[in-house]
Amino acid sequence: MPGAPDLRRGGGHRPAPLAALAQRRHPAGARQRAAPAWRLRPRADVSAVPSPVRVALLGCGTVGSAVARRLQDRQERYAELLGRSLELVGVAVRDRSLPREGVDPVLLTTDAEALVRQADVVVEVMGGIEPARSLIETALRGGAQVVTANKQLVAQQGEGLAAVAAEQGVGLDYEGAVMAAVPVLAVLRDSLAGDEVTAVRGVVNGSTNYVLDLVAREGVAFGEAVRQAGELGYLEADPTEDLEGLDAAAKAVILARTAFGAQVGLDEVDRVGITGLTDEDFKRAAQEGTVIKLVASARRAGCGAQVAVRPEALPAHDPLAAVRGGTNIVVIEAVSAGELRLQGAGAGGEETASAVLGDIVRAARRVR
Ligand SMILES: NC(=O)c1ccc[n+]([C@@H]2O[C@H](COP(=O)([O-])OP(=O)(O)OC[C@H]3O[C@@H](n4cnc5c(N)ncnc54)[C@H](OP(=O)(O)O)[C@@H]3O)[C@@H](O)[C@H]2O)c1
Repeated sequence: MPGAPDLRRGGGHRPAPLAALAQRRHPAGARQRAAPAWRLRPRADVSAVPSPVRVALLGCGTVGSAVARRLQDRQERYAELLGRSLELVGVAVRDRSLPREGVDPVLLTTDAEALVRQADVVVEVMGGIEPARSLIETALRGGAQVVTANKQLVAQQGEGLAAVAAEQGVGLDYEGAVMAAVPVLAVLRDSLAGDEVTAVRGVVNGSTNYVLDLVAREGVAFGEAVRQAGELGYLEADPTEDLEGLDAAAKAVILARTAFGAQVGLDEVDRVGITGLTDEDFKRAAQEGTVIKLVASARRAGCGAQVAVRPEALPAHDPLAAVRGGTNIVVIEAVSAGELRLQGAGAGGEETASAVLGDIVRAARRVR
């Protein structure tokens, strides 16, 4: 297996025999080949030390490297929480020669496909649609739990992948895909499961909010604010995804699906970005005592949802009007709970890792 990490590394744990792992992960496929578990290791050993949960990381960039470092730093904490350890068995990247601070180089591999087949929990933080989608499908079909922070993939392909996960009886979690550290999906999915959510609206793209904030609070001309945001790394090299509202639309779709169980596609979002705004718009908003924000909203409509992303001039008392810089906010309306507000960092490696690690712990609890 070229470029694959040394899978015998146990990080202090007793390494499980590969045949036993194959049997645990691919029960149907391995039935003919694998020896019974009792022949592979002594019974007393199995009951004394639960085998580690093997975690494969796909991607080691802003988010992936933070996840890898925390999996190492917090080994003891996770072992205590789960009653078994989380073992990072490999990290798939494109270029193994790049320096990855705090990540053991022996874990790096360019063979993501092989890595996926050796893990109990597969964590996709590489971004893009392919090969991320195929790798996730392979992982799910192989019986692995999957965690991803890939909003575009979840918005575009999430329903199909969720169907595969359900068919295989495994989990597909993506808290990090919306509002990074802010646990909005958990609140909608779990905390409000017994309530009826009627609407969700928020500022869910920190990059555009940074630009709009510069204009509204610092009086910077709109074009110059876009330029400065790009220079400071707030915008992607191709800023279209942020500025045209595509990033916010993906998040709005995921919010709508989670809140209402609505089958809504990205192409159904009524989307307007901020590129059409002019300095005149900002001047008028200031004169009227309003603040322009890129608002993502989802409202229950029958058994579906109306989902929109557009710039809105908000009155100063609106909770969305006060949100600054890269901060995200979401306001949830529910029949019994009333209005709930969640606010916090909407991006960043460490912040997104917080959500991804929460999903990893959740996924690890399902691993038998
Ligand atoms: N950054 C954030 O604040 C944030 C917040 C929320 C969600 N997310 C989501 O998290 C995901 C990752 O974002 P990021 O900012 O961490 O991205 P990033 O910094 O660009 O890192 C991407 C990583 O994936 C690897 N990779 C890409 N394509 C690959 C392939 N075909 N095979 C193997 N490895 C591949 C890259 O390898 P190399 O290093 O070798 O190039 C890199 O390590 C995205 O879906 C993003 O939308 C990010």
